[in-house]
Amino acid sequence: MSDLRLMAQRRLPGGVFDYIDGAAEDEVTAGLNVSSFSNYGFRPRVLRDVATIDTSTTFLGEYLPIPLILAPTGFGRIAHSQGELAVARAAERAGLPYSLSTMGTRSIEEIADVNSGTKFFQVYVWRDKTLLKEMLERAEAVGYEGIMITVDTAELGRRERDVRRGFSLPPKIGLDTILDGIRNPSWTWDFIRAEPIQFANVTGKSVGDGSSPVTLSDYINSQFDPALSWKDVEWFKENWSGKVMVKGIQTVEDAVIAADLDVDALILSNHGGRQLDGAPPPIELVAPVAQAIAGKTEIVCDGGIRRGSDIVKAVALGANACMVGRAYFYALGAAGEPGVDWVLNFLAEGVRRTMVLNGVGSVKELTTDLVVHRG
Ligand code: GLV
Repeated sequence: MSDLRLMAQRRLPGGVFDYIDGAAEDEVTAGLNVSSFSNYGFRPRVLRDVATIDTSTTFLGEYLPIPLILAPTGFGRIAHSQGELAVARAAERAGLPYSLSTMGTRSIEEIADVNSGTKFFQVYVWRDKTLLKEMLERAEAVGYEGIMITVDTAELGRRERDVRRGFSLPPKIGLDTILDGIRNPSWTWDFIRAEPIQFANVTGKSVGDGSSPVTLSDYINSQFDPALSWKDVEWFKENWSGKVMVKGIQTVEDAVIAADLDVDALILSNHGGRQLDGAPPPIELVAPVAQAIAGKTEIVCDGGIRRGSDIVKAVALGANACMVGRAYFYALGAAGEPGVDWVLNFLAEGVRRTMVLNGVGSVKELTTDLVVHRG
């Protein structure tokens, strides 16, 4: 995965790579998301006949070949002109659920046209509830199974790499972009031939669709409601008939509130370290949350997953599935759609091999006694 990240860094202009790779403030949480997985080790059992391994599971009643979901990520087309379409097609080929971000650069309908598998739509609490309701209706009309309500973004985190560069959507063409373009010819050629990038879910709406350059912080801080509260989760439950997931749970206390509200899944996530620097790494929350909610609601671990072994650790600790964002975004930036196919296969192979080497034949057998915390 670090090779893929380096390939993305070489192919993408600096501002684009930094938007994907960067995180809030000192990026401590983003680093911990990844490194905390090494606080956990395995207790492998041997001589258990692992000739046949079943890596599949179910999530919200749907079959998954491995316990993995593709997370919503904004601005997909800045990495590659196909953007979210490439990722959604690769997800369908891998049989894994795809989540479209509200800040996506391909629309709800365009994704449904290329992906007939399980799809989730990530939502924010917009100030404009009419627009929000319209988006939910559009997602329902084309068969999205669930929504993920992101609750960690009352205001955008200070992503200092983006602040320094004045990064906007679409990327502004200044002297540094021209220099970057010369240094990154394959990205530049792809970018200039493609139609202009926009926030495809709100094209032509009064809220602005990125037709003229806007920074993410100006956009989010003006359009999303900082007064969001648990009442909004109830609003979504009333206005959406499919599955409801809450994304951005960072304490046991809030996990319990979400479970008591009967949401279908809670997503342990700190937005890839892009919101509050100092927030806890999700892998550290899995076991205490699983214990506190005792199966009342499904649990997703989102953040820092770079290998199949990370997925196995999270599931053993009590997660029903994991989510990856940067992992596939690096792949998209490095090599386009074949890159995304490659990384999903890399993760699936990693899950299988880790189970074999631990003497575990099925996901059901992934239990807490498989994993030790190294303290
Ligand atoms: C988008 O929503 C982001 O986190 O950059």
